[in-house]
Amino acid sequence: MSLNISTPHSKQNIIRDLAIEAEQARNPNLSGADLSNTINRIKQLLEAQNAVLVAHYYVDAALQDLAEETDGFVGDSLEMARFGLNSEADTVIVAGVRFMGETAKILSPEKRVLMIETRAECSLDLACPADEFNQFCDRHPDRTVVVYANTSAEVKARADWVATSSIALDLVKHLADNGEKILWAPDKFLGAYVQKESGADMVLWQGSCIVHEDFKATALQALKQHLPDARVLVHPESPGPVIALADVVGSTTQIINAARDMEADTFIVATERGIFHKMQQAAPGKTFIAAPNAGEGAMCESCAECPWMKMNDLPRLEQTLETGSNEILIDEDIRAQAARSITRMVEFNAAR
Ligand code: 13P
Ligand code: SF4
Repeated sequence: MSLNISTPHSKQNIIRDLAIEAEQARNPNLSGADLSNTINRIKQLLEAQNAVLVAHYYVDAALQDLAEETDGFVGDSLEMARFGLNSEADTVIVAGVRFMGETAKILSPEKRVLMIETRAECSLDLACPADEFNQFCDRHPDRTVVVYANTSAEVKARADWVATSSIALDLVKHLADNGEKILWAPDKFLGAYVQKESGADMVLWQGSCIVHEDFKATALQALKQHLPDARVLVHPESPGPVIALADVVGSTTQIINAARDMEADTFIVATERGIFHKMQQAAPGKTFIAAPNAGEGAMCESCAECPWMKMNDLPRLEQTLETGSNEILIDEDIRAQAARSITRMVEFNAAR
């Protein structure tokens, strides 16, 4: 299995290079006037092209706000897919990472789907190459293949089902109740969480998210003791000992809703930092504290920022709209196969 991303040396190099790029992206030397010109131009182009901007909570706050202001959408990965499918726009622009753009195209082949940045990958997707995944499936022909949405179109094409974090546990419970044995890929932490909670018979691919795997249970336990009234919200891509300390485990939307609906005033949050923007909007006046990872200093590998999500920015969005570049194109056989497994997930979710 060529999990290059998981070797400490290459992982640190990748994160460092991407962090430099993300920093440059966040400081594009735009003055206030240039920024407002850029935003106005983007609005004109979106309207002229009958295009919608669909953003994930982890991207820059300015992109999230622009998506909502222009009748686009901000959501978790399942909701982004559903919005793209139901939208009447001719063009969907995805502010997120590659698998989100591919999912939009798979579900809406008649639409033009553009990414703000095609190099915006995901460590889970990178850790699960289709050829090795096919061999893994071939070794387990008796198992139902369930893959996380954070995978390539080719991997989804091999799967029986796709699942996002918002639905994975319910779906696997349902399959296990039908007596099915599961092959799960690629996130080992989400897979282990689902296995523990459902009691399902599962074999797991050994991928991980470079952001969530860095959250640290011992430091989180100490922080909880220091803040006994705080509630802990955890995304299930985090390691098991971190999940074990959570009051709520869920997808990005599920943990934002928990922050809004729970009575507590203070929350410790174990997921990517971009989510704080929407959390503060959803629950104004409440306090959100980032869960500890390796710390803010030299030892901090990701600092809870997804370097690929941070490649999305306003100047690149303007350029994409001006040039029509970064279009997602998928081989039709692969697309049609992948559409089956994603559509089953969307229908399962609707029937819940
Ligand atoms: P959600 O489906 O919860 O939005 O998660 C997507 C993701 O990439 C989390 O790291
Ligand atoms: Fe992938 Fe992790 Fe980034 Fe989510 S936060 S897109 S799982 S690398």
